[in-house]
Amino acid sequence: MCGIVGYIGKKPAFPILLSGLKRLEYRGYDSFGFFVFDEEKPFLFKKVGKISQFEQNFPNPSGEIGIAHTRWATTGEVTEANTHPHLDCHKEIFLVHNGIIENYQDLKAKLIQEGHKFTSECDTEVLCHLIEKYFEGNLEEGVRKALREVKGAYGIAVISKKDPEKIVVARLSSPLLLGIGNDELLVASDPSAVITRTRQVINLDDNEIAVLKPDNFFILKEKPLETIEWKIEEAEKKGYPHFMLKEIMEQPESLENTLKGRLLISEGMAKLGGLEVIRDKLRKIKRLNIIACGTARHAALVGEYMLEEYANIPTEVDSGSEFRYRKPVLDKDAAFVFISQSGETADTLAALKDIKQRGLITLGIVNVIGSSVARETDAGVYIRSGPEIAVASTKATTSQIATLALLTLFLGRQKEMALVMGQRIARELEKTPKLVKKILEQAPQIKKLAEKYKTFNNFMYIGRKYDYPTAREGAHKIKEVAYVHAEGCRGGELKHCELALINEDFPTVAICPSNSVYEKMISNIEEIKVRNGLVIAVATEGNEDIKKLADDVIYIPKTLEMLTPILALIPLQLFAYYSGALRGCNVDKPRNLAKSVTVE
Ligand code: AGP
Repeated sequence: MCGIVGYIGKKPAFPILLSGLKRLEYRGYDSFGFFVFDEEKPFLFKKVGKISQFEQNFPNPSGEIGIAHTRWATTGEVTEANTHPHLDCHKEIFLVHNGIIENYQDLKAKLIQEGHKFTSECDTEVLCHLIEKYFEGNLEEGVRKALREVKGAYGIAVISKKDPEKIVVARLSSPLLLGIGNDELLVASDPSAVITRTRQVINLDDNEIAVLKPDNFFILKEKPLETIEWKIEEAEKKGYPHFMLKEIMEQPESLENTLKGRLLISEGMAKLGGLEVIRDKLRKIKRLNIIACGTARHAALVGEYMLEEYANIPTEVDSGSEFRYRKPVLDKDAAFVFISQSGETADTLAALKDIKQRGLITLGIVNVIGSSVARETDAGVYIRSGPEIAVASTKATTSQIATLALLTLFLGRQKEMALVMGQRIARELEKTPKLVKKILEQAPQIKKLAEKYKTFNNFMYIGRKYDYPTAREGAHKIKEVAYVHAEGCRGGELKHCELALINEDFPTVAICPSNSVYEKMISNIEEIKVRNGLVIAVATEGNEDIKKLADDVIYIPKTLEMLTPILALIPLQLFAYYSGALRGCNVDKPRNLAKSVTVE
């Protein structure tokens, strides 16, 4: 996600902002910017790229007040115009923002009607114009009035040339803290940005506005001082030993971001702004082909079940590496969906270019804004899961599946999906971040399970229907981060081959929630038990019977069958993570693998 740093004190602000921003680099960013206020020579600097590319030539502005930002694009491409700080019409208000302004399109249309001139595509810019609209000499008052109109999430820091000598900050659902130093105050989205200057911080709460002045500050209510105990390197991982664990734990938030502003519950519909340009064409399509690689392909397989069952659209999944060399028979009424976290996977991109040449509709489901897949496709949906640093994909996967569920609603409701069914899916989807949070509370038990099974070098993962891709992904995760051999198999296929592998040294993870294929899964588990195989079952809460059959049980809450993969993947990711960590593997950077596979 994006990063914010602000400084007000008695020292030149720029070097302090720069060092704070560098401490936020680990979070990933595509562009950055500074504003340093100096009455004589205000300094605004924005660039696309990494700080290190420009550092040699940085100017040395004077000024003891400033704000800075690293941007990870979510609304609007990666361009200088979209980079923060953003400005109002008169270039008097300077603002950095983390989060998403959900109603920015409506606000922007209204502000344009009122005469405001916009210079970027970024949702953040509406905040500057709203503050400009309400500003009557007192910045915090302008900010307060502006924020009353805003829906979404924000952490902001604002400076105005017309009410100088202060930084006004505010937050809602996006972290922001004040650093209380000696004769100086800082604001940041993350403790790592202030830790070298002070350990005394105040974490702002939702809906709070604070005003920072050179020698004092005030918030709307009194708040206790807290002390940061983390070391710098721990702060970067929010105190987690690895990025992979941090990213697994972030899933309630990443899923919420994926769904934010996109679920129209009463209409049983999804609002996908990125598909609007192509909505009419999509209504006419007769078939979907989804192309992806690795973990993204497992998400695609879940999508295949969803789209066929609920949107009634024949759907086929292929991996980029196969698609580019086989001679597929393509339907001119098909749309092609490309799923990629990075948006740079060479095999996926090659397939995309091939399809584009044939003039067929292309859609992207991508995390990295402005990446090649996002740029090359006709339209698409960003999954908004935030930067994923660990090579093993975790939070992007669950966001990809949630996005496919949104696509199912979007396409299904334009075809034959009934309103009540749409409403039901939308309601259940909305609950997933909370359900995932609940599953994550079981991390200590799952760690114990990984300890119990750490001497086994082979695992079978089985599932049926929606849980088959989950089984594939569970096996994929433990292979890549723990270097353990694992097979992801359809429950019904076991007896045709893999059952031959099962004995007391080859445990099975059986994904068997209470759903339409539960009884069949029980038969598969029985087949394994009579061959002395150990079984870890992933089952629905309240199913006590399964304890009689399985050696260990991990419970997940009840949800719609189509959404079960989002929940069932969580314990499998944790199991793989702990297995890798216990074996001393480099879980964040597994040997021989890269985060973004940009070569064939
Ligand atoms: C996932 O854990 C792996 N790192 C890998 O399989 C990955 O999903 C695959 O390389 C595709 O990457 P993409 O989503 O960036 O296209």
